[in-house]
Amino acid sequence: MKKLAVLGATGSVGSQTLDIVRRFKDKFDVEVVAASKVSPKLLKVIDEFKPKYVYLKNPEPIEGVEVLSGEEGIKFISSLDIDHFVNAVSGIDGILFTYHILETGKKLATANKESVVCLGGLLKDKFKKVIPLDSEHSAIFQLLQKEKDVDKIYLTSSGGPFLYTDRDEFSSVTPEKALKHPKWSMGQKISIDSATLMNKGLEVIEAHYLFGFPYERIDVVIHPQSIIHGLIQLKDSTILAHLSPTDMRYPILYALFYPERVESNLKKLDLLSIGKLEFLPPDTEKFPLLKVAIEAGKKGGAYPIVLTVADEIAVRKFLLGEISFLDIEDLIISSLEKFNFPEPKSINDVLSIIKEVENYLGGKVC
Ligand SMILES: NC(=O)c1ccc[n+]([C@@H]2O[C@H](COP(=O)([O-])OP(=O)(O)OC[C@H]3O[C@@H](n4cnc5c(N)ncnc54)[C@H](OP(=O)(O)O)[C@@H]3O)[C@@H](O)[C@H]2O)c1
Repeated sequence: MKKLAVLGATGSVGSQTLDIVRRFKDKFDVEVVAASKVSPKLLKVIDEFKPKYVYLKNPEPIEGVEVLSGEEGIKFISSLDIDHFVNAVSGIDGILFTYHILETGKKLATANKESVVCLGGLLKDKFKKVIPLDSEHSAIFQLLQKEKDVDKIYLTSSGGPFLYTDRDEFSSVTPEKALKHPKWSMGQKISIDSATLMNKGLEVIEAHYLFGFPYERIDVVIHPQSIIHGLIQLKDSTILAHLSPTDMRYPILYALFYPERVESNLKKLDLLSIGKLEFLPPDTEKFPLLKVAIEAGKKGGAYPIVLTVADEIAVRKFLLGEISFLDIEDLIISSLEKFNFPEPKSINDVLSIIKEVENYLGGKVC
């Protein structure tokens, strides 16, 4: 039995991870789960999977389990004899989990892209050991297992809910409309990031750190069907693509069994029902945050951190109705223009940068 820690166990990726565990009950033992708070969903998870430890951002006693909290709790979890950590926490709250797990050298599968983007410059080579859970990065990771002479990586994007909406209409976009993703059912933060294409910008930076590719060799292509998740171009100019249904359980299954591939009873991809696969260029006039994010990634240093914090605060403000959809862009761009921090040399430097951007924008991310 492999011992698992599922961090963010009540969320979209966390629930799908537990669904895979449920399908392979004799292979995995969930020792730790983490969530932000006690909720009916969390209590159900505890009842079903019987973890020894529960980490809570907002701690409360729970009968029958040891409750941990704070950075000490994260350090304790990271020191446990766990075979596989799954970081499915949303947003910058995932940072300290990724940091302490990687510091111990343990196996980490992460969907939490914010921690990769914010810690990539600091932890560099440690990310080479990480197994990606993001569908695009899992696709590239799988393709890179067999091919070494790769010229270019392509990440695909569905284009989000506003692919076919004029930018003129963006001023009237409500949270409700922006949360309606055409292809994926996801948590709120990533859904809004998908509507602005910031998600794809963060993913380009994530790919840069995970695979060590320079930005010039990472490209984005809009693929509305979301069936191809990643492509690699080889030195002979041929391209290999990775296809799977639009369902996070495929990359999760791969990560949990890596390097083995196992039979699953998940639905098989039916090519004939898909019919056509389209590819379009990203429109960075309409979705400027894609370009802004890649530029921040290229500048490096603290810029990816400022970008990520500003985005998370802006998304929260938008969801609360405090700012408009287009204001998200303004908050992010003004934050990137305002700050020019020196390159962070420690986790404390990263946390101080986060605090300063929080103070500037009047919001909190962790
Ligand atoms: N959803 C997808 O399909 C998808 C695909 C690719 C990548 N990702 C990435 O995966 C991550 C998770 O996304 P999601 O959509 O699954 O988010 P989500 O549905 O909002 O779930 C977030 C999870 O994190 C927990 N959480 C939040 N703050 C925490 C903290 N400080 N400590 C412990 N747990 C905490 C939440 O607990 P509560 O329920 O108690 O609040 C919940 O379990 C994000 O970085 C996202 O970009 C998601």
